[in-house]
Amino acid sequence: MLVSAKDMLNKARDGKYAVGQFNINNLEWTKAILLTAEEMKSPVILGVSEGAGKYMCGYKTIVGMVNGMLDSLNITVPVALHLDHGTFEGAKACINAGFSSIMFDGSHYPIEENIAKTTALVNTCDVLGLSLEAEVGSIGGEEDGVVGMGECADPKECKMIADLGVTMLAAGIGNIHGKYPENWPGLRFDVLENVKKEVGDMPLVLHGGTGIPDDMIKKAISLGVAKINVNTECQLVFQEATRAYIEAGKDLQGKGFDPRKLLAPGFEAIKVKVKEKMEIFGSVGKA
Ligand code: 13P
Repeated sequence: MLVSAKDMLNKARDGKYAVGQFNINNLEWTKAILLTAEEMKSPVILGVSEGAGKYMCGYKTIVGMVNGMLDSLNITVPVALHLDHGTFEGAKACINAGFSSIMFDGSHYPIEENIAKTTALVNTCDVLGLSLEAEVGSIGGEEDGVVGMGECADPKECKMIADLGVTMLAAGIGNIHGKYPENWPGLRFDVLENVKKEVGDMPLVLHGGTGIPDDMIKKAISLGVAKINVNTECQLVFQEATRAYIEAGKDLQGKGFDPRKLLAPGFEAIKVKVKEKMEIFGSVGKA
């Protein structure tokens, strides 16, 4: 059964480790992450962007697929199905479809509007027992080939949003989605410390987990980060493994063109990557 991310994140905050949010894009991705979480005895959060939601045939299809896998694969570790960077409309659609956790990203709105929209969702999620992530200070990333530096959240605004009663808060601390540029100055731990001072016990979320050096990840966890999102790294290993299979001509041998064979190396590569991340985040054995 899918669970809210609340308990797993509170435990992670208290135990000084982080739960990984791994984004899913298809059946292979989902199965690889769930099997690894079970093998590692780690709680896990499956992230779904609105784009991936459309690709996978809508939120109801995803809920059906994930619930089916939890049952057929005998998954016993806590699993949350989480909307990643949702719009207000997307959040409502995922709540109706049966997601157990929602991110509403109102960081691009003026703070008053972010507060109003987040408040409406706090009430709905409370009634339904779902976890809710809010965001302050947008996360940088690549748009049209230009990589923007991550914006830093205003700690006072973080407190205003945290006080609404959300479960977890994503605060921009110079982190970026996708690959980090050569001249990236690193995470702003001074901002993270100030945010933490303002929001107290609220579990913090670090987006853009791809490519952040391990020592920075560990320091961020020590300063209150309890959830770390990873997407691009899984995409990269999936792509590399599939390409290597094709370049080796394996698709030309026997039944190598069978999609089940073609996608198998990518599936295995994701398992290895997720395991590696769970070890770094310290969530192994914490289910
Ligand atoms: P990366 O793609 O950089 O790993 O970031 C993932 C993320 O933050 C999803 O919200």
